[in-house]
Amino acid sequence: MSVSFEASKKAAARAAVQLVEDGMVVGLGTGSTSLEMVRLLAQRVAEGLKIQAVATSEAMAEEARKANIVLVPGYPDFQRIDLTLDGADEVDPEGRLIKGGGGALLREKLVATASTRLVIMVDEGKRVQQLGEGWAVPVEVVPFGWSGLQKRIELLGGQVQLRQKEGSPFRTDQGHFIFDCRFGPMGQPDKVHAALKSLTGVVETGLFLGLTSTLVVGNEAGEAQVQHFYPAPPTYLTV
Ligand code: A5P
Repeated sequence: MSVSFEASKKAAARAAVQLVEDGMVVGLGTGSTSLEMVRLLAQRVAEGLKIQAVATSEAMAEEARKANIVLVPGYPDFQRIDLTLDGADEVDPEGRLIKGGGGALLREKLVATASTRLVIMVDEGKRVQQLGEGWAVPVEVVPFGWSGLQKRIELLGGQVQLRQKEGSPFRTDQGHFIFDCRFGPMGQPDKVHAALKSLTGVVETGLFLGLTSTLVVGNEAGEAQVQHFYPAPPTYLTV
């Protein structure tokens, strides 16, 4: 039986939204947990919270507009982001992530690296000991010459699949392709990331290393556990 983790995602989103303060520029992640977060954030905005937002995908920008969440002037350009709330596909004990299941990894990483704090919201099922236990690493690539690049990634030891949507290659918001690269559990994900990034044609990888400030893990009882990696030393509390 598959578990949807709906209550867990909602619990994580609820706790994460509480971290947003008046006057902040907020990065909006992509995916089902982020969608829940945007709905909850919209409620706070309707109650008077004043924020501006940067969305990590066209889909989420549309959701924000529908929910009366104001995007920063000049969006899709932006500079300072105070706090980004985003989901993830896998998270290891050090807060390292695999992201990109929804195909937004490049914008998500651009937003994450521009953010003072990155808050990651996950359900219980996303925790792993080593990245790659369950998920392939999404890798965004330029379409030109893609099959040669696929072979070069396979030489690194990955099983590589070109992501499809409705019978055609999936296209990102930037018009790129995505390879889902299965390396199995990775002892040194930083080396995998560096090897992938060294290949011409690779735009970005879905390995988010050293970026998570705060991890919010929701459970099916509707509670959320918050773990801080940066700037505070690791602490655990239940909210
Ligand atoms: C989008 O590209 C991803 O990085 C998502 O953040 C990730 O796939 C998590 O999605 P869910 O919240 O739907 O599980």
